[in-house]
Amino acid sequence: MTSSKSLKIAVLGSGRGSNFIALYENIVANSLPVEVCLVASDFADAKILEIAAEYGLLTFACPPSRFKTKLEPEIETALAEAIQSAGAELVILAGFMRVVKAPLLNAFPQRIINIHPSLLPDFKGLEAWKQALDAGVKETGCTVHWVDSSLDGGAIISQSKVPVLSGDSPTSLHLRIQKAEHQLLPSVVNEIALGKIPLGLEN
Ligand code: GRF
Repeated sequence: MTSSKSLKIAVLGSGRGSNFIALYENIVANSLPVEVCLVASDFADAKILEIAAEYGLLTFACPPSRFKTKLEPEIETALAEAIQSAGAELVILAGFMRVVKAPLLNAFPQRIINIHPSLLPDFKGLEAWKQALDAGVKETGCTVHWVDSSLDGGAIISQSKVPVLSGDSPTSLHLRIQKAEHQLLPSVVNEIALGKIPLGLEN
């Protein structure tokens, strides 16, 4: 049985948005049952917002924050309200560099996913590709996981592996991981849209 209903998603990012581009292009090229109802950023001048506007999508920029790694509760509440007003059923963190707290977590229980550039639980936090290189592992990759109050610690949904090659620099390894990310995130979002991965209940 086919359904004409699309999963409404909001994509949050802080930077250049290569994962968002890969996701959006995949949705369009493969007619995935997914609709991007909002693209939001913690930086008004983030490239991801520029690209979303070029695609003709609704965008939201948070006002400047005093903090680097989190948002003030009132800013995060405004962000959560914007996402709710847009009608999002799933929130995707694609390079969103803030730790998500109660306002978003409570508004979207078991409805926020994140893409991280390592095979979690290894190498949580920043510059995971550098951590992998420093640790001397032969293999790393990327993970899509549910977001909870822990740092990169929510339940794992899916992972993709890449080799670490001799002579790799942080840049070459990061590029290889990002190529894998650009495949993994759209495939997970498609599986959620098709109901193969269940979303949390409405609150
Ligand atoms: C990605 O490597 C993702 O894993 C991490 O932040 C990076 C975002 O890159 N969370 P981009 O903005 O999608 O290019």
